[in-house]
Amino acid sequence: MTFPLKYLLQVRSRGSEASSQKKKYCKPTSGFRLTIMYIKTLQLKNFRNYSDFSIDLKEGLNFIIGKNATGKTNILEAIYFLEAGKSHRTNTNQELITWNEEFSLIKASAYRQDRDIIIEASIFKAGGKQIKVNGVGIKKIRARERPILTVIFTPDHLKIVKEMPENRRSYLDEILEKTRPDYGYWRQQYSKILKQRNMLLKKVYVGRMKQDVIDYWDKQLVHAGVKIVIARAGIIKKLEDRAGQSYKKISESDMSFELNYENQLLDENNNSPESLEERFLSELKNKRKAEIERGQTLVGPHRDDVGIYTDGTDLRIYGSQGEQRSASLALKIAEFSIIKELSKDLPILLLDDVMSELDHARREALLKQVGNGIQAIITSTHVEYLKGMDEMSANVVTIS
Ligand SMILES: Nc1ncnc2c1ncn2[C@@H]1O[C@H](COP(=O)(O)OP(=O)(O)OP(=O)(O)O)[C@@H](O)[C@H]1O
Ligand SMILES: [Mg+2]
Repeated sequence: MTFPLKYLLQVRSRGSEASSQKKKYCKPTSGFRLTIMYIKTLQLKNFRNYSDFSIDLKEGLNFIIGKNATGKTNILEAIYFLEAGKSHRTNTNQELITWNEEFSLIKASAYRQDRDIIIEASIFKAGGKQIKVNGVGIKKIRARERPILTVIFTPDHLKIVKEMPENRRSYLDEILEKTRPDYGYWRQQYSKILKQRNMLLKKVYVGRMKQDVIDYWDKQLVHAGVKIVIARAGIIKKLEDRAGQSYKKISESDMSFELNYENQLLDENNNSPESLEERFLSELKNKRKAEIERGQTLVGPHRDDVGIYTDGTDLRIYGSQGEQRSASLALKIAEFSIIKELSKDLPILLLDDVMSELDHARREALLKQVGNGIQAIITSTHVEYLKGMDEMSANVVTIS
């Protein structure tokens, strides 16, 4: 049985001080009230390099300082797992369990929507995971049922613009999974169907299967694929506006900033779900021969990209390193702003080693996100990289 988060948040955690606490809100920015969210303590058992570990965090700034390989990223990964039920850097949950152990446990006490909550995630070597909020299991983590919300930023994100289309698709997916109720489900369905279809194409090629079988999978692929295309198309404009504003500030210029959703199915006139499905199906029919020869599906949102332009110049190809970094940073800031607006919660900002990668102006732009009630958990090898932030008020934890 699954429970909506709203319900789970009402199940009081053991020892909860919720009722005695004052409600915490952030200043409204655009007519709606944002609720504060933060992690108070995090406990790890058999998680990566931690056999038994606990850390106290506070509202506002938290610095985690430690040399390379001490486990800084592992802490952020554990927090991300509590939100998404998966890691931000691997698809294999078993990798997260300390070598030679049978299970991992991540436990956090947090404050969200005016209440204290306890979130626990267990990962088992034999397979499977379990996530509980205030002792009640949640089966699938969907957009509105995420126990907490985070925005994670690692040095890899500074390459969103420069690297392969896959990075830009993941960027869109991350935002949509957090903000659209069924997006994660349809994306999962789509990749399962795609895998199956590609396998069948290979079988048809070697004569182990008749072509007709593919027809059934075409319909399934089209159904899930169109949901993804519509959602991605719907978020692009919003992202363009937000990232455009940030880009201008970061680059201290007045250049125009455009995002162009590059998808094979969209057309100038009619992008209703029915016409997208029709076009998708007919493209699959047209390409069937080539697909069988290559054993690969050649049409669909798995081939999408996002064009990123300033004053008409494609930054993916022609951008300088600085322009590409500024645009990547602007996109991440836009992600934070959209998640905040759509969820009406202030997400927790997880910055993994990015401050050392940014120059003064870019740091400043990012820091403007911090403050105003946001919990930020920032890792670095040296505290010097965090100069300029409000170090005096920060909670500094050194890991050795
Ligand atoms: N399943 C596991 N069991 C035990 N140790 C692991 C496991 N997975 C990773 N580790 C170890 O965790 C250590 C710390 O990793 P982590 O990536 O958190 O370091 P870091 O502090 O972020 O380092 P850097 O500053 O280089 O980014 C690594 O040395 C790695 O070998
Ligand atoms: Mg690291």
